[in-house]
Amino acid sequence: MAGAAGSPEKTWSSRTAFILAAVGSAVGLGNVWKFPYEVGAGGGGAFVLIYLVFVFAIGLPVMIAELLVGRRGHAAPPIAAETVAAGSQRHKSWAWLGWIGVIGAFFVLSFYSVIAGFSLSYMVETVTGRLGDLTPEASVKHFTDDIGGSFAIVFGWHTLFMVLTVFIVARGIKGGLEQAVTYLMPALFVLLVGMVIYSLSVGEAGKALQFLFQPRLSDLTTDNILQALGQAFFSLSLALGAIMTYGAYVPRDYSLPRSAFIIAAADTAVAILAGLAIFPLVFQYGLEANAGPGLVFITLPLAFAEMPGGVIVGGAFFLLLSIAALTSAISLLEPTVSWLEEKRGIARAKAAVWGGLAIYLVGIGSVMSFNVWSDVTFWRGTVLDNIDFITNNVMMPLGGLGIAVFVAWFMNPEAVRSEVTGISDRLYKAWLNLLGFVCPVALAAIFFSVSGADRLVLRIVDLAGYGVSEDPGERLLHATIVFIVMIMPSLLAARRRHPQLALLAFVNVVAGWQPIGWLFCLVWAHRPDLLTATRRAVGARDDRVQASSDERSGSAG
Ligand code: TRP
Repeated sequence: MAGAAGSPEKTWSSRTAFILAAVGSAVGLGNVWKFPYEVGAGGGGAFVLIYLVFVFAIGLPVMIAELLVGRRGHAAPPIAAETVAAGSQRHKSWAWLGWIGVIGAFFVLSFYSVIAGFSLSYMVETVTGRLGDLTPEASVKHFTDDIGGSFAIVFGWHTLFMVLTVFIVARGIKGGLEQAVTYLMPALFVLLVGMVIYSLSVGEAGKALQFLFQPRLSDLTTDNILQALGQAFFSLSLALGAIMTYGAYVPRDYSLPRSAFIIAAADTAVAILAGLAIFPLVFQYGLEANAGPGLVFITLPLAFAEMPGGVIVGGAFFLLLSIAALTSAISLLEPTVSWLEEKRGIARAKAAVWGGLAIYLVGIGSVMSFNVWSDVTFWRGTVLDNIDFITNNVMMPLGGLGIAVFVAWFMNPEAVRSEVTGISDRLYKAWLNLLGFVCPVALAAIFFSVSGADRLVLRIVDLAGYGVSEDPGERLLHATIVFIVMIMPSLLAARRRHPQLALLAFVNVVAGWQPIGWLFCLVWAHRPDLLTATRRAVGARDDRVQASSDERSGSAG
């Protein structure tokens, strides 16, 4: 089959190409648009500090794991996850990890493209001088009425952006993705560094540095912390297919931890540089740092309108934002396309066009969220709000949790070790511990809180009969405890291939008998003979397989 998994055209041609593409995926609207406004709204330095901790303690370990599943499975995410699971004698339903990826990336791109379209439109408007004399009120009106309020304009730019994305992806990995990032990433870098130098020299550099790097920990709220973790995952492109798909094209001799470290470090550097480009201007022109999502589209144009040469500086800024968005968008289209190619046998160009078209059509819902349907709200808000909520608040933490738990607990340990090369045993252990313990707890906590599932779960379990707390911090704590106490025993049992026990532990805990669930686990973990007897008694099929009956025939090729 043309373009099937394992064919030579489906690998990166060099380590540099891979790193550029992955950094291109990571660096996007998340860095230049979202990060600065979240820092602004989240109180500055304190947010930056915990963001850094989350990127390296939680994001980086998951990125290594996600690349690992992709490379070992060497195929589009659902196929890769299933293959790797089978190789570790695990159930093929682990394919869901890949499905979260393909479906998640599909829906993220549907609205990502709309916001990228705003960036394109602002670039053209700035350069043509249409934003030349702007008052704060006019800027708000311009965004919500003139641009956002016009279906035709938002739709047109969404169309153009999707066409660009499809065009690149259709040309394949070497001819499309690699070519694009080889030109676009250096351009992005030059623009960004230029912006930072300009901004620091003409703007309020001191205030900006203080704002970004002087943490006042008292500024941190539960919401901020959750937001920082979600942002770390979004910015690193984790858990929604992109990294797993790019991982599938990585040759066996590249070190995954080293690559992941470079990608995470570059992504973080760009986010901070974007902050250094934006905040000196914000303070210089007396604008609001905590303007929220409108920071880049409503607040910043005011600075461009006022400064000498703002046409050029502003144009460069929106060009930078558009380039960043484009290299991310191709990584959001790639999972769908590689799945269509490999599973359905559709030729690449066709797969890109059909996949892109489907995403484009779904994206019209997000286009209309700004105008025709701006009043149509249900559940979490507009259509865009709902898609954003499901992908970022439900699928992303769940997918990350799944990847962490799968690799740390369910994969054959020798297989994992053989993929994670280029680091010392001590670092390896540290990684495994972070992945197996810290990441699942953090991701479960974020999943419960941001999806609202904590209310449901806490209502069912109702810790000690207190009722469900209204304080978000307290709820977060309770949900975390519930996860450790309630879900962990079941997972531990499932890992030991004791499905009945897993169910039993779960039921016990839901019924409010947590200690009994744990007791079963402890006894059965330490007395396998008891277990075998019990299993025989319940007539269970003994499907224990030796871990050493090794998975897959070795090389990935
Ligand atoms: N990381 C990109 C950004 O910061 C967005 C992105 C690209 C993404 N691919 C992804 C987010 C996959 C989640 C999953 O803008």
